[in-house]
Amino acid sequence: MKIVQTDSLHEASQVVAGMILERILAHPDTVLGLATGKTMEPVYEALVKEARETQVSFSQCRFFMLDEYLGINPNHPSSFRTYIKERVLRPLGIEDHQCTFPPADSENIEAAALGYEEKIKSLGGIDLQLLGVGRNGHIGFNEPGSLKHSRTRVVELTQSTIEANRSEFPGEEMPKSALSMGIGTILEAKNLLMLATGEAKAPVIKHILNHHEDEDCPATFLKDHPHFTLVLDPEAASKINLKI
Ligand code: GLP
Repeated sequence: MKIVQTDSLHEASQVVAGMILERILAHPDTVLGLATGKTMEPVYEALVKEARETQVSFSQCRFFMLDEYLGINPNHPSSFRTYIKERVLRPLGIEDHQCTFPPADSENIEAAALGYEEKIKSLGGIDLQLLGVGRNGHIGFNEPGSLKHSRTRVVELTQSTIEANRSEFPGEEMPKSALSMGIGTILEAKNLLMLATGEAKAPVIKHILNHHEDEDCPATFLKDHPHFTLVLDPEAASKINLKI
């Protein structure tokens, strides 16, 4: 596990965007796993800006999404599909056929989840998976209690996750379940790149660093991955001391 401590939220987001671009420059046919959440917003802004300035092409890349809410239309303004279309796909001119979304609107969700896993495998697996982390240590929507070998499946959201995301659904009922890549699916990505920013993430970052394979904090399962990079801003790193 490699930890990159930065001096600001801005620098942390730039570092992550820079790592993505570096990968795509070296391997234009990269299969990229995308994450959503507020943490990723400045990363995607930096990525789009930098990609335009340097004219990096994403035309050979393929994209998969970590998760999606259940029970809402995929084109709902607060769906993760809409989030990623608006912030990444459209600004970078990425075409629909390059991107596969979790089939959250499928009638036979279990078969569709299997199909999603098959699609990832058929493209040679995910080369670089971006990740945020929930305050309770969830990754994707793998809430506490998720198993290390879990695959893409329907998951129930915890109360704390519902509270953290409720503002995305003003005036309407917040979805209570989602379709998420499993921890086993995520661990098969060749490189994992996690970003945590802000004071609210400081306790979970401390917990991750101090615990191993703790089912109550799914992000701890990532620590044995051979290529796991964790990028932190000063607030998220405020409860750890790596210099001792
Ligand atoms: C969300 C997503 C995760 C994200 C996490 C943290 O609900 N399912 O992929 O990493 O929770 O979100 P945020 O960056 O808004 O704190």
